[in-house]
Amino acid sequence: MKFFLDTADLTEIEEAAAWGVLAGVTTNPTLYARVGGKLTDFENHIKRICDVVGPECPVSAETVAMTRDQIVADGRRLAALAPNVVVKVPTMVEGLAATRTLADDGIRVNMTLCFTVPQAMLAARSGARYISPFIGRFDDISEDGIAQVAQIAEAVGNYDFTDSTVNGEQIEIIAASIRSANHVTQCALMGADVATVPFGVLKKMVKHPLTTAGIESFLNDWEKVK
Ligand code: E4P
Repeated sequence: MKFFLDTADLTEIEEAAAWGVLAGVTTNPTLYARVGGKLTDFENHIKRICDVVGPECPVSAETVAMTRDQIVADGRRLAALAPNVVVKVPTMVEGLAATRTLADDGIRVNMTLCFTVPQAMLAARSGARYISPFIGRFDDISEDGIAQVAQIAEAVGNYDFTDSTVNGEQIEIIAASIRSANHVTQCALMGADVATVPFGVLKKMVKHPLTTAGIESFLNDWEKVK
C-alpha cells in the first residue's frame, strides 16, 4: 500500500518526504484554506508542492467548477502546472463527463467524494486514474466507512479497469478521509492501493508504547556495556 499525505501544508509535506515513505499528496479546497492559501497563489502553491515531492509523486489539485466545460478548462490548466499534477474532480454527472474528456486528453483524474460502489463503477468507466472513497465522513453519518471502502475495492478489483490515458495505467483506490492509524490497518487488510493520511495520523502510525519502551531500555542497557 502506498501512502499519500492529505494536506496542503508545505512544512508537513517536506517533513513526510524526508521520511522516505511518501508516494503522493492530495489536497482539497478546505486543506488549502486551512494553510491560509489565497486564490491568487493557488497554482503557485500546487507547483511548490510538486517541486518538493518530485516528478514521481502524484499531487492532486481539486477543481471547484460545476460544469463540464469549466472543469475541463480548469483541469487542463492545473495539469499544465507540472507533470505530476492529478486533477481532482468530484463524483457528479458533470464531473464524469469532464473526466472522460480529460482522461482522453491523457490527463490523470482523481475522482473524489466517492461513497458507494455504483459511484466508483461510474468513476472507473469515466476513465479516472484514481478513485477516492471517503471513510471518516461516512462514519460521521453513522455508516461503516471501512465496509464501504472494502466493497468499493472489491468491486473495482473484479474488473481490469485501466484509465484512459495513453499509458492505460491501472486504476487505483485511494482510501481517503482517514482519521486514525486503525483506519490504515483496515485499509491495508482490505488491500486498498493507497491510503491518503493527514500528517497527524502518519506520525501516530510510527508509534507504539512498546517500541518507545524498548528503545529506552536498549539505550539504558547499552550504557552499561560502555
Ligand atoms: C481526500 O482526498 C480528501 O482530501 C480528504 O481525505 C478528506 O478528508 P476529511 O473528510 O478528513 O476532510
